[in-house]
Amino acid sequence: MSDAASSFVAPPRPRFEAGTANPYLPMPATVIEVIRETHNIKTFRLVLQDEKAMREFHFEPGQVGQLSMFGVGEATFVINSPPTRKEYLQFSVMKAGEATAALHTLAPGDVVGLRAPLGNFFPYERMKGKDILFIGGGIGMAPLRTLFLFMLDNRNDYGKISLLYGARSPQDMAYSYELPEWTDRKDIDCVLTIDREAEGWGYRVGLIPDVLLGMAPAPDNSVAVTCGPPIMIKFTLQALEKLKFSSNQIFTTLERRMKCGVGICGRCNIGGKYVCVDGPVFSLAELKELPDEL
Ligand SMILES: Cc1cc2nc3c(=O)[nH]c(=O)nc-3n(C[C@H](O)[C@H](O)[C@H](O)COP(=O)(O)OP(=O)(O)OC[C@H]3O[C@@H](n4cnc5c(N)ncnc54)[C@H](O)[C@@H]3O)c2cc1C
Ligand code: FES
Repeated sequence: MSDAASSFVAPPRPRFEAGTANPYLPMPATVIEVIRETHNIKTFRLVLQDEKAMREFHFEPGQVGQLSMFGVGEATFVINSPPTRKEYLQFSVMKAGEATAALHTLAPGDVVGLRAPLGNFFPYERMKGKDILFIGGGIGMAPLRTLFLFMLDNRNDYGKISLLYGARSPQDMAYSYELPEWTDRKDIDCVLTIDREAEGWGYRVGLIPDVLLGMAPAPDNSVAVTCGPPIMIKFTLQALEKLKFSSNQIFTTLERRMKCGVGICGRCNIGGKYVCVDGPVFSLAELKELPDEL
């Protein structure tokens, strides 16, 4: 095992402590901006109605929130703005069912409920001084975005930063308005890819795992952080292992349907782990200990 690999242990597990604020009580938040990212993804920028709570709101990159549409339901989303940029909290929502369809009807000025922050986070302290490779597919770019921007805001703490971001087509690429800034930056290596040729597309064409193998990033002193649809993750993990990344050097996030979000209801467990408090961030080494997850 390399030095980089052996130095990783799980980040602290935030848990609801009896006697603290009611973890089921959502905070009212106002939508200040809605961005249509793709045909089925919208981004919402929110501020807590309680200005003091907004000023004091503390979260870590990778933590999630439960967004509620009153009278409809609640669903889990990663806070994809970084903690270094606190003028609003950003969530990107892919339409999947009832709650997400209701969220897609929101307009600026509307009010939602938010229970956050929940879950663990990327162990960014232990990633300091290392080369960081981000590999995101589709909506999987959301959890990566928070850590990616956090690291850009603390650029000197990290070595080489690379981003490989892929989607089916240019129209399926979220955050398209930010991509030119990322590809132009000289202090990061940003590779964009789509599955099939498309008119006017000036970047790579190819599936993420194939493009990754072509990039051939060195595993020494490196960490890979990857998120995306299950099929992409499966082949990306295989590609990373081919490139000799050890399972302690690879991090991903798990999506398990949640209810309480605070380790009480038992809805989200995989083996002995609760995704809502032990996750959603796991190293591949941790995932390999879980029953049948990958
Ligand atoms: C830790 C975590 C972070 C997440 N972050 C994001 C994010 O940033 N952006 C985003 O768009 N989505 C994210 N999700 C997924 C999101 O929570 C679900 O898409 C949402 O709960 C669906 O709610 P719904 O009521 O619209 O769908 P439902 O009507 O409940 O279900 C519609 C379909 O989606 C499936 N589904 C529901 N929940 C999940 C789930 N958790 N994982 C996989 N399939 C599911 C159902 O099986 C069903 O087929 C995250 C989930 C977790 C657990
Ligand atoms: S969602 Fe209730 S224990 Fe995880």
